[in-house]
Amino acid sequence: MKLEKKVIASEDANEIIEQTRSILSQLKNGDGVEVSTTVDPTPALQDLLDNNWGEFDWHPLERGANSYRFALIKLDTPSPNMTIREFMSRGHVWCDDLYAEMEAVALEGDVEATKQLFSSFELAMLQHFDMEENVLFAELENRGVLPTGMGPLAVMRMEHDQMKGVIHQMSQAATNSDTNGITSLGETLIILIQQHNVKEEDIVYAMATQSLATEQGIVLKKMMIQ
Ligand SMILES: [Fe+2]
Ligand SMILES: [Fe+2]
Repeated sequence: MKLEKKVIASEDANEIIEQTRSILSQLKNGDGVEVSTTVDPTPALQDLLDNNWGEFDWHPLERGANSYRFALIKLDTPSPNMTIREFMSRGHVWCDDLYAEMEAVALEGDVEATKQLFSSFELAMLQHFDMEENVLFAELENRGVLPTGMGPLAVMRMEHDQMKGVIHQMSQAATNSDTNGITSLGETLIILIQQHNVKEEDIVYAMATQSLATEQGIVLKKMMIQ
């Protein structure tokens, strides 16, 4: 998705909240923007979670010392009752799209653009793993829906570690400006991701959607703030 770029120059949390609200309110359904700030925009995310629930997706693109970027997408149709399966499956598509965008510029030989897109892809993947391991899987384990240390969640965590290993190698290739290294490791990673995501969507997300039905909104908000 090609995103229009917006800059919020203020460092004041309330001003960032106001401007983020206004950006979302001006977006057409299905459209998105890339927003840059110089301070952590998490308060603005919290504000949207409190006041505009079910209207948007928010994806971090950069979390630097003084440099933050995030994608803010207005959903096609407001979905206040979105399920864990819907939300997390959209996360899979988002990561796949970021990868495809990076691969395209890598094949064109644009080293700097590849490095920047790789770093957003890496952030998106690691955030997605955190949402699952720290919130979703933990909820399922704590409630005894699925066991700890064995069964589907143990397999998912093991596959995450495997994928994190490949992403780490890709990150080293990016440091060395080795775009060929990134894309050849990427081919391995994409296969791992595809196999993993099918299992997750069909088994883990499906079970979570069923067994956490009444607390779905709370669990989703916890994941989104990761
Ligand atoms: Fe996963
Ligand atoms: Fe996932």
